[in-house]
Amino acid sequence: MMVRHLFRMNIFLYLRPNSNVENKNKKNYFKMKITVVGAGNVGATCADVIAQRDYANEVWLLDIKPNYAEGKALDIAQAAPIHLYDSRVKGVTNDYSKTAKSDIVVITSGLPRKPGMSRDDLISTNAGIVKSVTENILKYSPDTIIIIVSNPLDVMTYCAYLTAKKPSSKVFGMAGILDTARYRAFLAEELNCSVKDIQAVLMGGHGDTMVPLPRYTTVGGIPVTELVAKDKLDAIIDRTKKGGGEIVNLLGTSAWYAPGAAAAQMAEAIALDQKRIFPVCALLNGEYGMKDIYLGVPVVLGKNGIEKIIELKLNAEEKKLLDSSAKAVKEVMTVLDNMKVLA
Ligand code: LAC
Repeated sequence: MMVRHLFRMNIFLYLRPNSNVENKNKKNYFKMKITVVGAGNVGATCADVIAQRDYANEVWLLDIKPNYAEGKALDIAQAAPIHLYDSRVKGVTNDYSKTAKSDIVVITSGLPRKPGMSRDDLISTNAGIVKSVTENILKYSPDTIIIIVSNPLDVMTYCAYLTAKKPSSKVFGMAGILDTARYRAFLAEELNCSVKDIQAVLMGGHGDTMVPLPRYTTVGGIPVTELVAKDKLDAIIDRTKKGGGEIVNLLGTSAWYAPGAAAAQMAEAIALDQKRIFPVCALLNGEYGMKDIYLGVPVVLGKNGIEKIIELKLNAEEKKLLDSSAKAVKEVMTVLDNMKVLA
């Protein structure tokens, strides 16, 4: 009895002194530090969701705008006694030394879209920002895993990869979870069923060429094509592809609740080594017959980042859609290459 008690005390004191023993993630009493760069709507939402899940000891928000990250972090931290979590949330203005030894860094910096803009219109401004943020982050956290959220997503992920010179398993982008979430939300609404029962795969770039895959969409295990008529399904797919734009038109700026939560879900899968299968913007090296391109594909996410890229056996029509999405992404990657921002 005594020995067991001491052993428990030891684990408790040594590995995570501030933990609440009732914490639902108590098996994960290790030190986890996560930084979110950009304390705008997406970054702050992401930090808030990460903190609420209570698996990170430290959550840092960093922004270039004076006092902004400090203010957002203070507000988030003051919700801790309500949500009952132990994550410590702190903010800092452009001082990357505070982010040192982060395990995971989510980069949300950059301008959001305004009505009438495509994600690609943001490329020159945001590439400069993503490059400099990536360099600063790696100065203090050379071993971190980097999740990119800045737009145009696929190309900004490529930009971070070129800057970081790290294995692509540790530099990848968030888009597929968001796009799939939109698709699943629309389907749940159409079917009047729980979103929990909808499983889906969506591939390709984070733009109007993205490829939702009805053949890999199920509702409680039932193929969606048996439950939703073709014209309705086509309309939902179309709305999913334009899902970001629909919100830009309503709000005058881009979405944040779902994008922030989606990035947080990736951080969680890595932090807790969950081996979850998500569509992620990953560098392809021969998979799907493509090379040297960042594109949304299903992967296994765990403590090592992307632990596996899953290759589906796409039919001819699906492959054609994926190829045309890849072509669109590649064009913008070439724009970035030609801009020489990385020189
Ligand atoms: C969207 C932006 C964040 O899809 O890309 O809402």
